[in-house]
Amino acid sequence: MHVLSTAVLLGSVAVQKVLGRPGASDITKRAVTDFINSETPIALNNLICNVGPDGCRAFGTSIGAVVASPSTTDPDYFYMWTRDSALVFKTLVDRFTQNYDAGLQRRIEQYIAAQVTLQGISNPSGSLSDGSGLGEPKFELTLSQFTGNWGRPQRDGPALRAIALIGYSKWLISNNYQSTVSNIIWPIVRNDLNYVAQYWNQTGFDLWEEVNGSSFFTVANQHRALVEGATLATTLGQSGSSYSTVAPQILCFLQKFWSPSGYVISNINSNDGRTGKDSNSILTSIHTFDPSIGCDAATFQPCSDKALSNLKVYVDSFRSIYGVNSGIPAGTAVAVGRYPEDVYFNGNPWYLSTFAVAEQLYDALYVWKKTGSITVTSTSLAFFQELVPSVTAGTYASSSSTFTSIVNAVSTYADGFVSEAAKYVPSDGSLSEQFDKNTGTPLSAVHLTWSYASFLTATARRAGIVPPSWISSGANTVPSSCSGTTVAGSYSSPTATSFPPSQTPKTAATGTSFTPIACATPTSVAVTFHELATTVPGQTIKVVGNAQALGNWSTSAGVALNAVNYASNHPLWIGPVNLKAGDVVEYKYINVGSDGSVTWEADPNHTYTVPAVACVTAVVKEDTWQS
Ligand SMILES: *[C@@H]1O[C@H](CO)[C@@H](O)[C@H](O)[C@H]1NC(C)=O
Ligand SMILES: *[C@@H]1O[C@H](CO)[C@@H](O)[C@H](O)[C@H]1NC(C)=O
Ligand SMILES: *[C@@H]1O[C@H](CO)[C@@H](O)[C@H](O)[C@H]1NC(C)=O
Ligand SMILES: *[C@@H]1O[C@H](CO)[C@@H](O)[C@H](O)[C@H]1NC(C)=O
Repeated sequence: MHVLSTAVLLGSVAVQKVLGRPGASDITKRAVTDFINSETPIALNNLICNVGPDGCRAFGTSIGAVVASPSTTDPDYFYMWTRDSALVFKTLVDRFTQNYDAGLQRRIEQYIAAQVTLQGISNPSGSLSDGSGLGEPKFELTLSQFTGNWGRPQRDGPALRAIALIGYSKWLISNNYQSTVSNIIWPIVRNDLNYVAQYWNQTGFDLWEEVNGSSFFTVANQHRALVEGATLATTLGQSGSSYSTVAPQILCFLQKFWSPSGYVISNINSNDGRTGKDSNSILTSIHTFDPSIGCDAATFQPCSDKALSNLKVYVDSFRSIYGVNSGIPAGTAVAVGRYPEDVYFNGNPWYLSTFAVAEQLYDALYVWKKTGSITVTSTSLAFFQELVPSVTAGTYASSSSTFTSIVNAVSTYADGFVSEAAKYVPSDGSLSEQFDKNTGTPLSAVHLTWSYASFLTATARRAGIVPPSWISSGANTVPSSCSGTTVAGSYSSPTATSFPPSQTPKTAATGTSFTPIACATPTSVAVTFHELATTVPGQTIKVVGNAQALGNWSTSAGVALNAVNYASNHPLWIGPVNLKAGDVVEYKYINVGSDGSVTWEADPNHTYTVPAVACVTAVVKEDTWQS
């Protein structure tokens, strides 16, 4: 079914391009709808597969852990990122609040409880005592610190986590479970909000973990977090005055990213040598979308003139640099990536960036239809004229033919971005991180959790499902002069972490619990051993144990692990071994010197039960050298 719909889609795109006949966009629309219908359950299933402890690709990780991607080599994404996991759970919370689902609720609560552990871990960014540790971007899936070199701190994490948790809090409050919010969630959110109020005016690494400076995405989400946080504080009878004091200054700073050339320079206060055109800005627009504030430019709403002008400049920057876009005319959707200067995996289109453009356009369409008018300004004129050449600056009511022409053209344009991504989705519906800029072959991390979330939010917006409002009265008013006001807060480890049972909706529940797509219980499981063991050049770490595949305790027949991701402050040795599902294995790691000498790690033997669970075909077993 999936293969078929993708084939239909390719056919229709060809028809549209070659013949340009009337009605071609209807065919594309149907093909996009078919793709969405088949991809939606696959995306949700694959997303949940990456959530611990029981997701099919996160099996055995900690409760509430979120695997960024099950890929363990080239690249190794088998970690939990604060940003990625918060964006993924924001998606799940939005879905949950639309449609009660006990399976999602359990996962949301497990994710929230895991944040207590993560907030409390001292790590290379710092600790909880002064809040600095909250800026740590990435953790082991055992919910422990990641000690390797990294671009840290990243200051979007606490803001995004607060936003996700506030989303669930609002649902609890509206269903009369306010005490759960006060007792369990607020102490976690307060740490994150205090972090934002204290550290927002310091540089950090951007969402792509490369640029040390000020990132548009980070700053916008910090603003949103404090605005929403101040409202929640008031509801709960807590003090949110520092958030209300600081938030306008963050909004003031946000305005400084705008370039007179008509787009956002996504990283400032840095010398990154780039144009600044970056998916960062599109993601900002969709993640701070508030359907109640129209096309407000100060908060960079999706339909604001600035955000639309920026969209055009950003999209156009990829037209000539990706082979997959060659021959696609201006004003037609193309595949887009993070930023045109990108060299990661040689610089390619990303699924989540391409879906994000569609999402921004669907958001804009929603607001125009809801408010019944479209305003074209000199700032957004170029965007509109590319789609409807006859348009001039002005305001068009929904009764006008210009309104209809714009809505139709933007709808087709938006669907085009979904279909551009869909062209390069393999027949099993899996979404990697990237696809090759020339061949369209999926590249980099497989089953990227964020890719699935980006598909789900874009297509929800296409269906007219929008997130709740987050703004409060006056919170989008930009102060006349900016200051770097910060407020130092206090931080404490939340004590209550277990959610009361049966927090069901006050009106009859409509949703069904998430059910994974069925699959067989495998007979053999690929177990990837992750061993942290410090070695010197010439030494090799092997795993040896009582299974035939582990050498039956013979040191020469043990499995040599790979040091491809080894770093002195994160001495990782990894390697896959196929083991029989359900077997209980005993094993140890050994260090084999260049002369063949063998050093065994200390007792006891490790014991591990290989899972025999439906759909679980691969797991990671994380260990540390026992000395
Ligand atoms: C701090 O805020 C001031 C005032 O908006 C701004 O000029 C400065 O660039 C900011 N610095 C950082 C690192 O956020
Ligand atoms: C990031 O930039 C700040 C100055 O804005 C500097 O103090 C800090 O050391 C830099 N961090 C890294 C890891 O280079
Ligand atoms: C494993 O080794 C033991 C003792 O060396 C031997 O008795 C046994 O047959 C071996 N098992 C397999 C499956 O090779
Ligand atoms: C580990 O397993 C080996 C092989 O079965 C056994 O000889 C040894 O006593 C075990 N070590 C401990 C500490 O149980």
